[in-house]
Amino acid sequence: MTFLRLVDQGAHQTLEIDGSKGGPLTGEITVPGDKSISHRSLMLGAIAQGQTRIKGLLLGEDPRSTAACFSAMGAKISDLESEWITVEGTGGELQEPDDVLDTGNSGTTFRLMLGLLASQPDKFFAVTGDDSIRARPMKRVIAPLTEMGAAIAGKAGNTLAPLGVKGQQLRPFHYHSPIASAQVKSCLLLAGLSIKGDTTVTEPSLSRDHSERMLKAFGANLSINAATHSVTIHGPSQLTGQTVIVPGDISSAAFWLVAAAITPGSNLLIKNVGVNPTRTGVLDALSMMNANVTLENERDVTGEPVADLRVRHSSLKGCTLGGNLIPRMIDEVPILAVAALFAAGTTTITNAAELRVKESDRLAVMVEALTKLGGKVTEHPEGMEIVGMGTNAQLSGSVLDSYTDHRIAMSLAIAATRASGQSQIRRAEAAAVSYPSFFDTLEAINRQAL
Ligand code: S3P
Repeated sequence: MTFLRLVDQGAHQTLEIDGSKGGPLTGEITVPGDKSISHRSLMLGAIAQGQTRIKGLLLGEDPRSTAACFSAMGAKISDLESEWITVEGTGGELQEPDDVLDTGNSGTTFRLMLGLLASQPDKFFAVTGDDSIRARPMKRVIAPLTEMGAAIAGKAGNTLAPLGVKGQQLRPFHYHSPIASAQVKSCLLLAGLSIKGDTTVTEPSLSRDHSERMLKAFGANLSINAATHSVTIHGPSQLTGQTVIVPGDISSAAFWLVAAAITPGSNLLIKNVGVNPTRTGVLDALSMMNANVTLENERDVTGEPVADLRVRHSSLKGCTLGGNLIPRMIDEVPILAVAALFAAGTTTITNAAELRVKESDRLAVMVEALTKLGGKVTEHPEGMEIVGMGTNAQLSGSVLDSYTDHRIAMSLAIAATRASGQSQIRRAEAAAVSYPSFFDTLEAINRQAL
């Protein structure tokens, strides 16, 4: 068997991967555009006045869902495959779409867009998504929007998609969010753009701040109180189209950071990665684990910090990951759990209950998969404990499932490269949600190393 191959299985694809044929990770790679920044560039472009130009947009399924929804509401978005994408904005007056808006697998599209729809007076919108989206909690955005005067109805007592939205003139509001969630924060700030007065969101610790940065760049009247983790939109605020250059996604780079950190002989340069401090929890976690990662060529690109990341293999050690670090590495917990298997000592992940309501229950799914691979892992309500097996950990190839969750598919693929013999990962095609070229890159790095 070759190192890896994708085999069609009905509507899905199974990844077959032979860990004994995996080599060290060397050379230089780039990763696709940041998913969060890609969504926001399309959305702000769609509601701004004039033209927005975007370079480096992630061509994954999630941003494609955002582009399709906003095209259906009157934004003119050019060919997504071209180097520079243009968005001719609506000036904030979204058209009533002729059909249901489908956000696919994308929670960011759903929740951020909801703030914009709820604040379009007299217009009607119906919104749905795939099986995962229709099971994800929407009350976290519906409840504060309703307090602001929104008219939103949905399944399960107005808490789940599909939703119907009758746009309203909303009222100013100060929301104290019980969770550090950029999706909740951004939803309300976007609603606040068309409200006369102040819309403030205070969160318990700082979640990713791409919305705040980009809203400011597009001309929104926004103020930040860093001490209280509060952001205020002073509305109404008209946006003006801008140029956005999307950096590589650190959440995608995380798979290679861990793969190289756990594979002897590795020395890999990942170029052009976004290193916004609200996203670099994975670098802090890896540093606590004694990983060898350095930042080179640090620079600023259209308002976001960017660097090249060099990672070399090293002997990892276990640590505790929790508290305010979790929102800064929320999407990297699954791949960090893989790293923990190769650490000396135990790694404890705490305060991570949010993982249970992502594209899958990422705590339960990872505990099941790592156990199948031979790990000693204990699930807790808000995290897990992983007994590390050291640099030379012996994992056994196994049959695993992504549960249609992109980050699980990729985390398990990396774990499988270090397992003896063959592994199968069912429903591996989910990777295309955020990283369509992931398996090509995995194979290319491996071929280059051998
Ligand atoms: C995102 C925020 C995070 C993250 C998601 C993308 C965003 O979700 O998990 O992948 O772009 O705002 P929460 O804000 O709900 O934690």
